[in-house]
Amino acid sequence: MNGHGTAPRTALRVTLRTLSDDTFTSTAMSEKATIILDGKSYEFPVITGSEGEKAIDISKLRDDTGYITLDFGYKNTGATKSAITFLDGEEGILHYRGYPIEQLAEKASFLEVAYLLLFGDLPNKKQLDEFEGNIRYHSLVHEDMKRFFEHFPSNAHPMGILSAMVNSLSTFYPKSQDPHRPQALVLRTIYRLIAKMPTLAAISYKNNLGHPYMYPVNKLGYVENFLHMMFALPTEEYKVDPVVSSALNTLLILHADHEQNCSTSTVRIVGSSQSNLYSAVSAGIAALWGPLHGGANQEVIEMLETIRNDGGDIQKWVDKAKDKNDPFRLFGFGHRVYKNFDPRARIIKKACDDVLKKMGVNDPVLDIAKQLEEIALKDDYFVSRKLYPNVDFYSGIIYRAIGIPTRMFTVMFALGRLPGWIAQWKEMVDNKEPIGRPRQIYTGATKRDYVALKDRS
Ligand code: ACO
Repeated sequence: MNGHGTAPRTALRVTLRTLSDDTFTSTAMSEKATIILDGKSYEFPVITGSEGEKAIDISKLRDDTGYITLDFGYKNTGATKSAITFLDGEEGILHYRGYPIEQLAEKASFLEVAYLLLFGDLPNKKQLDEFEGNIRYHSLVHEDMKRFFEHFPSNAHPMGILSAMVNSLSTFYPKSQDPHRPQALVLRTIYRLIAKMPTLAAISYKNNLGHPYMYPVNKLGYVENFLHMMFALPTEEYKVDPVVSSALNTLLILHADHEQNCSTSTVRIVGSSQSNLYSAVSAGIAALWGPLHGGANQEVIEMLETIRNDGGDIQKWVDKAKDKNDPFRLFGFGHRVYKNFDPRARIIKKACDDVLKKMGVNDPVLDIAKQLEEIALKDDYFVSRKLYPNVDFYSGIIYRAIGIPTRMFTVMFALGRLPGWIAQWKEMVDNKEPIGRPRQIYTGATKRDYVALKDRS
């Protein structure tokens, strides 16, 4: 029965069956899904990914049946096929181009991973040198951009500045508008963006402090250069601490891609209208900013500090998070796809201990984080909903230890996610995917006639 007390007009039944497929070898089988609507059967292909995950391809559903699917938050909807990142939320597996995240985080450099995401394979020495050289070459931003920075309010959030400045890059490089230019030109736009993003991020921080901007020093590596632009002052010598650059390298790698999440889907959908890469990434930055996505890393530290300042009664805050009448959530807990553990959170938790030990930092907030995790993971509310610490739970503690201010945390996430956004955009462009345009079920007023203002009650 529906809400009006009448029986539903149609019944939908979906069955999956395995069929022999003449086009395959004798042992190969292909599956079809049968959907029964209004008593009529329709068959749709079943697609199997390289790691065995399955989807019913309903791209012809509306043409064949007049129906669409409805899936709030796209919880069960695949929007594309992608060869970039594989993750298994039940098993806590994350691979970039087939390589386990644990190996990349331990052994690779961030630009190596960026190359891997963009081009599909790890670079050899020559390819990496060339890639790094291309990125170094473009690290300066146009001097006119400084004028934009000067006019943001001094307390402007750096994510708002970053999104605006990345978008404004498109006005400095008008030829970059066309995503279907020859490959070499598209690559130049990609190198520019990877090169300029740390410069823009660091300027937004300096702007916040009222400090002079530091120009990139191209003999430094990508991560070291960013730290230099963030923390050096013209008045004194700044030496990059290798513990700090190594921790940051790991964090950037852990954030580098995560398949079709909110910000990446945003980048793909904005790019699908064939707008330029800068504007697509600018939109991705805006999507990442929200506290349910990348903005959670700032929220986590602010939450842990609030708990500490409130006397450290962790149970009180766990109870608040469980209370449906209280809007408070445990930031850094829960994930749309990880339902067992987030492999990035495990790596970060360990890195957090290591970095704090190496730097001789004793952060009381780390103890609160550990106690909070322990209490929540024994609580039936969190266990039954499969809510575990996510990538953002411990990352802020490392950022703090290495001197990154809280309001820059989500900017750090954006720096890390950049190669993933670009790789996903490039894949979408190369595959000539159609414009992203979901449908809806309309629930508003049915047709009615305009009433003159004088006749309205
Ligand atoms: N604290 C308390 N309860 C929570 C939390 C949390 N952090 N997360 C989920 N729940 C509860 C929900 O209230 C809901 O309960 P109900 O079934 O009784 O209604 C249930 O768990 C399922 O949660 P949803 O919000 O429906 O799950 P969804 O997949 O839509 O959301 C999300 C995932 C947004 C990550 C959510 O867990 C959340 O808000 N977490 C806190 C914010 C956060 O840490 N975000 C970073 C995610 S990682 C990233 O984007 C990089």
